Amino acid sequence: MNNESLLWWKNTVIYHIYPRSFYDTNGDGIGDLNGIREKVAYLSELGVGAIWMGPVFTSPQVDNGYDIANYREIDPLFGTLEDMDALIATAEEAGIRVLLDLVFNHTSDQHPWFVASQSERNGDYHDYYIWRDPAPNGGPPNDWMAWFGGSAWTYNPHREQYYLNLFTPQQPDLNWENPAVRKELVDIANFWLDRGVAGFRMDVINLISKDFAGAGTWCDGPRVLEYLQEFRQNLHRRDEIVLVGETPGITVDRARAYTLPENGALDMVLTFDHVMVDQSPTSKWVPQRWNTADLIEALLKYQEGLAPECWNSIYASNHDQPRVVSRFGDDDRYWYESATALATLFYLLPGTPIVYQGDEIGMINFPIKTMQDLVDVESRNAYNNFVNEERCAPAEAIARIAPVARDNSRTPMQWSGDRHSGFTTAEKPWYPLNPTGEEIHVHRQMYGQNNGGAHGENRSILRYYQHVIRLLQTDLFRSGELDLLFYNDRAVLYARETPFERALVMVNLCSHEALIPGEYLNNEGTPVTYSYRVLSNTPVPELQINEDFHLPPFSAVVHLFGSVMSSASA
Ligand code: GLC
Ligand code: CA
Repeated sequence: MNNESLLWWKNTVIYHIYPRSFYDTNGDGIGDLNGIREKVAYLSELGVGAIWMGPVFTSPQVDNGYDIANYREIDPLFGTLEDMDALIATAEEAGIRVLLDLVFNHTSDQHPWFVASQSERNGDYHDYYIWRDPAPNGGPPNDWMAWFGGSAWTYNPHREQYYLNLFTPQQPDLNWENPAVRKELVDIANFWLDRGVAGFRMDVINLISKDFAGAGTWCDGPRVLEYLQEFRQNLHRRDEIVLVGETPGITVDRARAYTLPENGALDMVLTFDHVMVDQSPTSKWVPQRWNTADLIEALLKYQEGLAPECWNSIYASNHDQPRVVSRFGDDDRYWYESATALATLFYLLPGTPIVYQGDEIGMINFPIKTMQDLVDVESRNAYNNFVNEERCAPAEAIARIAPVARDNSRTPMQWSGDRHSGFTTAEKPWYPLNPTGEEIHVHRQMYGQNNGGAHGENRSILRYYQHVIRLLQTDLFRSGELDLLFYNDRAVLYARETPFERALVMVNLCSHEALIPGEYLNNEGTPVTYSYRVLSNTPVPELQINEDFHLPPFSAVVHLFGSVMSSASA
């Protein structure tokens, strides 16, 4: 294999699947592996080259699978090992690689390692987790707070010690300082690599080394890079696979260190700055005003900081974030325009797009109205905290949680206009379908049944995504450099360029008209023999060189300049 094909992940679109909400084949109301397999043809038509699925391993499901009790078995909710093998094989036939989600910062408290670890202070597993004696006053060893509320330490009366849990108490943190733990985790990864998976998304991977002494934080501790290098070094097929690390709270410098090819650690990281522009830095539940410039700066920070040596991942939303069209767009008046404008802005940047299921049809946030609509452990804990500790009225608590709850993006996929949007034949899906299901669904957008309504009438976001994905397969978008030419609080203009071609990408991300000044609209440096519009989501006039361009609300235009040289020399 040559170097180019080893780096397949730079030339592909990854589709992110939330398994329990993708497609249910056995009528229990929960998506399953066979459901993913049945939809491989759909994914192939969309044009994606890889899927990453959230954790499907044996789990008590306290945090929807991010609490794993057996890393080598499939949870019966999702199917069997044979189903996984069949999925990998079917996907491979369709040219789609499969990536799994490894949750290695913590396990479930039901994992046999933890069961053993909590039962004795000096058995084989005593040091698999992070145990500490109580503080002199009997309280927790330090003041760290867990991500989902409360202290990050849980007392165990049997060991008379505290264990660390950065998420829920049912998710004890593994002790990576113990070489035996690191060996176990490598073995698990190799177990899956030997079954044919093409790589992993690694959950909260920059939390694996804790800095208790120094800065006293739990992100990016002193040994993260070393652990990741050792991990990769011991993987089977380590140069063919992709490792994508989820890295909350990361800085550009750390992101560079983890993804520099010569460091042999990760290939890409998932950064968070752009999904925090609308939140207060101290709490995700406190909204903050944002505009286009904030979003551009958050994205550009990593484009500038990582290129050209390192590679970026590009995501607009995922199972932990609200729906992108509801968050950064207008999911009512400009539903089609804003969903497509956002896809243009994000996915035409250099990097590997990771498209979250449902975004390609413009799925919107769930109308969360009561406590019953909150199923996610984070949302529920936040609700209880607001109501019980902060003495909020229930309606106020809901109002604070609803726009950002993770439940928003976890609702089942909308496949058709049938009952439960064709997701399941069960009486009751695990989470109710979004009420827009009759209007927003794959079948309508794929086969053009445009029977009206705000979300109908030739408004196929899916078709637009297919165009974007096809554009990404051209040399220009595969390898063209990024040049940010202009942005303000409404709109952005950037170029992608090679010596032979240049694309101008213009996006207006607000509900007012925006103006791109003519001085930025030229074909400088490109030998031009042709020039045409390759994509737009709204009828707009032809672009005139050096003349101001008026972008309607939430519009996106991609204009190409090129020379016949490009095809001759390609
Ligand atoms: C990651 C996952 C999230 C999970 C958390 C704890 O952030 O994406 O869903 O709750 O890690 O594993
Ligand atoms: Ca099922």
